[in-house]
Amino acid sequence: NNPKIVVLGSCSIDFTTYAPRLPNPGETLHGTKFNTSFGGKGANQCVAAAKLGGNTFLICRVGDDQWGQKYIENLKTAGVNVSHVYKTQNVTTGIAQITVAENGENQIVIVLGANGHLSKADVKATEALISSADVLIGQLETPFETTLEAFKINKGLKLLNAAPGRSDIKEILPYCSILCVNESEASILAKHNVDSVMTAAEALKILLNLGCETVVITLGEKGAVYATKNETPIHVFCETVVPVDTTGAGDAFVGALATFLISNKERPLHQIIGAACEVATLSVTKEGTQTSYPTNYIPFRKEYHYEML
Ligand code: RIB
Ligand code: NA
Repeated sequence: NNPKIVVLGSCSIDFTTYAPRLPNPGETLHGTKFNTSFGGKGANQCVAAAKLGGNTFLICRVGDDQWGQKYIENLKTAGVNVSHVYKTQNVTTGIAQITVAENGENQIVIVLGANGHLSKADVKATEALISSADVLIGQLETPFETTLEAFKINKGLKLLNAAPGRSDIKEILPYCSILCVNESEASILAKHNVDSVMTAAEALKILLNLGCETVVITLGEKGAVYATKNETPIHVFCETVVPVDTTGAGDAFVGALATFLISNKERPLHQIIGAACEVATLSVTKEGTQTSYPTNYIPFRKEYHYEML
């Protein structure tokens, strides 16, 4: 009886160009490489969890173009259960146009396509799976009301990755066991500029007051901070590496967090977050998203450093 990790969310094809730096508005640059790969935050998180040994299910929509079927094959290969992957007629599969600079930074434009058709009716059709999920994960690349509906019916652990950032999602926060955001998403949602451990700790308070049980803010190479209502916030450190491609590192973190939360229930949250940071760090040392997520990774080989704030 392997606990179920259910991801409701996006799957998109990533068209990635690598360039010396990000272009300025109106500027044309010579890139050095082009790659087509499987991405989208929902699918990335699901594949990250599957590669770490999780029992994963993805609820999503693809289009009826050449990419839809290819995507389903990719998910199967990764070990994701695809019984709840649906096809929408006459729309394209979601896509992302990504530019990665030599310093590892990126810029992304997404077109939702079929992701925009994931509906409340789909939640109804998958109700049995959603309500029985041990962990349910959502993001913001699919319609908000659909995610909200799913979070209302699940009684397990609900993990919301509020990405890409937006501020008008307060209604779902009381249903979140864990809200996970990066610095820019935290700034938008908390309406408080987050650019350091200190300002992140301030944003934690604001976000907890909006009704989440636990809030995690990822800080890139500075690790992550988190807090649970009425408890001291904690900063978890992570190793620094030379980044090659940071695209999808947040998704690696979320997928790993979900996996370790159910496979290592007895460990303190700072250690679970430390292991999730380690997985995300490994992912930035390689190009791409899903292809950069580790398999055969063994967490907790050491104690992860942390400090109370
Ligand atoms: O989080 C990374 C993902 O965001 C990429 O795979 C791309 O699809 C974008 O949606
Ligand atoms: Na990567």
